[in-house]
Amino acid sequence: MANLVAPKVQKQAVSVTRKMSASLPGLREIAAQRGLKVHHLGAGYPHPEVTDPRGFLRHQEAYFEFLREREGLNDPDVLPEYLREAYSYTDTLGPVSARQTFANVYGKDWGFQLDAEKLIPTVGASGGINLICSMFEHPGQQVAYITDAPTYAGFTARVALCQHATIFSVDMDGEGPLPDTMRAQIRAAREQGYFVPFYYTVPDGHNPGGFSFSQARREAILEVAREEGILIVEDAPYLYINFADPAQRAKPFLSMAPDQTVHLFTGSKIGFPGPRVGFLYSEAELEITDGQKVSLSELALVESSSELLFHSPGALRGFEALLHERDEAEGFVERQSIWPLAEEKLVVYRENREILLEVFARELGAYTEYFSWTIPEGGFFTVFTFLNSGAGKPVQTNDAMIENMVMEHGLVVIPMYDFYPKDARQRDPGAGMNQLRLSFCFSESAGQQRRDDMREAVEAFCVAAKALVGLVGVSE
Ligand SMILES: Cc1ncc(COP(=O)(O)O)c(C=O)c1O
Repeated sequence: MANLVAPKVQKQAVSVTRKMSASLPGLREIAAQRGLKVHHLGAGYPHPEVTDPRGFLRHQEAYFEFLREREGLNDPDVLPEYLREAYSYTDTLGPVSARQTFANVYGKDWGFQLDAEKLIPTVGASGGINLICSMFEHPGQQVAYITDAPTYAGFTARVALCQHATIFSVDMDGEGPLPDTMRAQIRAAREQGYFVPFYYTVPDGHNPGGFSFSQARREAILEVAREEGILIVEDAPYLYINFADPAQRAKPFLSMAPDQTVHLFTGSKIGFPGPRVGFLYSEAELEITDGQKVSLSELALVESSSELLFHSPGALRGFEALLHERDEAEGFVERQSIWPLAEEKLVVYRENREILLEVFARELGAYTEYFSWTIPEGGFFTVFTFLNSGAGKPVQTNDAMIENMVMEHGLVVIPMYDFYPKDARQRDPGAGMNQLRLSFCFSESAGQQRRDDMREAVEAFCVAAKALVGLVGVSE
């Protein structure tokens, strides 16, 4: 063992989602021994049915061949430029063609012009979270981040790495975070001597909240952010995993106020998680020490160059391939929109979501005094609440209950309590203790078997939920 004394290094708590995935093989074995089928309502992973990379690899190969021909290379011994670049050191901004293509297509989808020079490649949205936090975490300055209660576990995990960073959380209702509470939390943090750079959120398909913010609430939040002088960090993995009618969709903060927003894009959900492609984009300007104004993207670039040096150029070029489609006359042309790409994935998520909501309505619709669940307009999750309002046995969604769900019913579900930041649990020790995050994105089967498995999983969950509150016998 290394004889290193690190007095300030603390062991971080393992998140409940990681604990769950680590204990899953053991639980799965126990469930199998008991003759139970494992029902996946826990994992937040993209479905294997829409993440088979083979079609993409063929598409990428053809696109690279197209680039080679466009370079006018007929001699197979000559190294094409795209290939040389894909395996070389590049600038921190990475290949311009990948950024320009993304700027064009994303800009068309969201109705404004992105500046490709402000697109900073990140290691997925996780890398974007890390980058924006690192930018504001400097020794000698206590920093407070505003976020929702509950919030994304990857964000709280990142904040926990910095000893002088803390979270001031904002409770939510069915439309989003409460604007007055947000203002009060910003001011409370400042009164306690913290610097407050931003509010972090997932407005579309909130993870773990299981809903999308209303347009009116987005506007109210933006007003608070503007008045109080803080940025909005918009984590947007589910922007395209959207079930809302196009006319009803709320706008991302990016298109409402690019100068107030730091937008985190990821290719993980509309493409593949493996290549770790993501971008941080912002048109914000910051005032630095001597009153000078500097663009946030410039600061992010400097931070990223020391943190990452550069992202994989090959992965970025692969993403560029995904943003092109075949064309008879031209060979390949830039896509007009990312929506058709998303649609290939949405088919599965939409079906699974419908099965979940339909089974809930059928099996639990008559028991609204016992249970409620969110209707997700985007993303992978719904939050299921045991109302514990008098009727039936009170249910605590603690670790023992979660384990029991696997052992007795083969059901893998995630408790909500761990998604509430520490301050939220101090305000209300019962926060999330009657809630579960149920996912409808993942199962081990495909096609009709997937649909059948999803239905079976939700039906098994409904039986368990009714038994828990004492509505019916476990043997129903
Ligand atoms: C809200 C949110 N942010 C970030 C991530 C991580 O995404 P990435 O693979 O892009 O790092 C996820 C993944 O589930 C997520 O739900």
